[in-house]
Amino acid sequence: MSNYVTLEYDVLVIGAGGAGLRSAIEASAAGVRVGLICKSLLGKAHTVMAEGGMAAALANVDDRDNWKVHFADTMRGGQYVNNWRMAELHAKEAPDRVRELEAWGAVFDRTADGRILQRNFGGHRYPRLAHVGDRTGLELIRTLQDHGIHQGIEVHMEHTIVTLLKESDRVVGAFGYDRERGRFKVFKARAIVLATGGIGRAYRITSNSWEYTGDGQSLAYHAGAELVDMEFVQFHPTGMIWPPSVMGILVTEGVRGEGGILHNKEGKRFMFAGIPDAYKSQTANNPEEGWRYTQGDKNARRPPELLTRDHVARCIIEEVKAGRGSPHGGVFLDIAWIKEKIPNAAEHIKKKLPSMYHQFMQLANLDITKEPMEVGPTTHYIMGGVRVDAETQMSNVPGLFAAGEVAAGLHGSNRLGGNSLSDLLVFGKRAGEFAAQFSKESNSGQISDAQVEGAAREALEPFERAAKATANAEGPYQVQYDLQETMQNLVGIVRREEEMVRALDELHKLSVRAKQVIVYGHREYNPGWHTAIDLKHLLTVSEAITRAALARKESRGGHFRDDFPNKDSGEGKMNIVLRKEADGSMHVSREEIPEMPPDLERIIEEMK
Ligand code: FUM
Repeated sequence: MSNYVTLEYDVLVIGAGGAGLRSAIEASAAGVRVGLICKSLLGKAHTVMAEGGMAAALANVDDRDNWKVHFADTMRGGQYVNNWRMAELHAKEAPDRVRELEAWGAVFDRTADGRILQRNFGGHRYPRLAHVGDRTGLELIRTLQDHGIHQGIEVHMEHTIVTLLKESDRVVGAFGYDRERGRFKVFKARAIVLATGGIGRAYRITSNSWEYTGDGQSLAYHAGAELVDMEFVQFHPTGMIWPPSVMGILVTEGVRGEGGILHNKEGKRFMFAGIPDAYKSQTANNPEEGWRYTQGDKNARRPPELLTRDHVARCIIEEVKAGRGSPHGGVFLDIAWIKEKIPNAAEHIKKKLPSMYHQFMQLANLDITKEPMEVGPTTHYIMGGVRVDAETQMSNVPGLFAAGEVAAGLHGSNRLGGNSLSDLLVFGKRAGEFAAQFSKESNSGQISDAQVEGAAREALEPFERAAKATANAEGPYQVQYDLQETMQNLVGIVRREEEMVRALDELHKLSVRAKQVIVYGHREYNPGWHTAIDLKHLLTVSEAITRAALARKESRGGHFRDDFPNKDSGEGKMNIVLRKEADGSMHVSREEIPEMPPDLERIIEEMK
């Protein structure tokens, strides 16, 4: 028998970014015992990478804004494959969640008359992003942490969950280990909330840090939950591309929201060419009007740099392919140019974008108040994920909930910037509330020793193989690297059938290799071992993305196919659903999206 510690909670929250913290706070407020698992340290979450703000129709800067406009913007940005009920709840509840955050101590930037300041962001019709300079995600995490720490939540830092434990079809716990000592732990729970974030580390170029290996999507899938629309991966248009060691680090959309422009090596603002029809009437057709928009002129239209991320990222790729890119394979993002427009521009930039200023100064030795930045697309977010009920956030596995990036639905095929921070507050709260309710109505369930033993054995296999290893045995890093290359090159921004078929074949070979990797040393703080364990999750989500991308024979939002460049290839609006079969294979099906109720249809029509 393996040695392991057992801990018991009513609600276990896995993941401690914004969604996890907000869930834990809500569940705890409902009077149940809550455990919170962080893969790394509390406060270190991808939430901080949502730098530019959280979207909520507070109408502080433009009083034409309201939940209906936000709803319509979110649906159009997601190209109408969103879960419309989630989009409705999100637009209606986001303002209260932002005000609540303020009441808990978040210090937002202010309008002249003292209200929460809101800025422009891609795809949002009005200035809607409540922000704290370019550190909004950080402020959100700080506030939730400060608030949550007084709620009696038990926090387990540096713990990785390897598998979920079930009793018949219900989830009853999770099995994992602490990274410091490598000790196994069983977390018994009546309800579990997954809030593990995204999959960025399945790609070579990403804004995500090492923790984001698709754990939640994979844990849910192997426990019998459905995944939906995994093909919709968001490539944020502006990541750092130089020097190589910092490639992928995010350059906030807030730069463009503050008037930053994109140009190619010929100095041309290429975004003015090819504005999509759906956005033509709302988009400026000259630089002067675009500038006025960013400065709050209500009669001006948005500059094309503030079109949706999927479109901007593809335009950048096209410039580079056409040989008009910057020296290191991206394009130029210029905020320094505003010195032509405003006095004290350098001070203004440092005040509005302090992190960007320091990031480029320290990492690239470049002063963004004087010179343009070199940027290119970076894997930032996944819109697909665990399929959940819109009201409760419960998956099809009883007792298993998901919130934030790990859950699918709200964003459809493309997320609008700023909608993730509001997403994780709105649906984190809901997941916590309904998980607590579920736990009160359920018994604690039985953990099977056999399940725990099996998981422990599998986790230790890389050490055992090392004891008998031959000279050509490989460690986990090469497999991880090859997986990232495969996804980057074959299932990236522009996709086509033969490349994705090749990717599936490569992923199959990689999964065979992953089952043979060896790890030397012992269990205490052994990053090689941690990587070997993460490989299962990375392989699961990579296969899910690829199979779903093959199944969706059209281009929509974050999913662009060279071989099917148009929308609606005759099938109407579909969700692609993935499920694990009894034989272990991944089943793919298409499901028609339920019809939207007439009142919501009307809102969309009116907003058009
Ligand atoms: O560009 C950004 O600041 C990112 C925001 C987001 O992903 O929501």
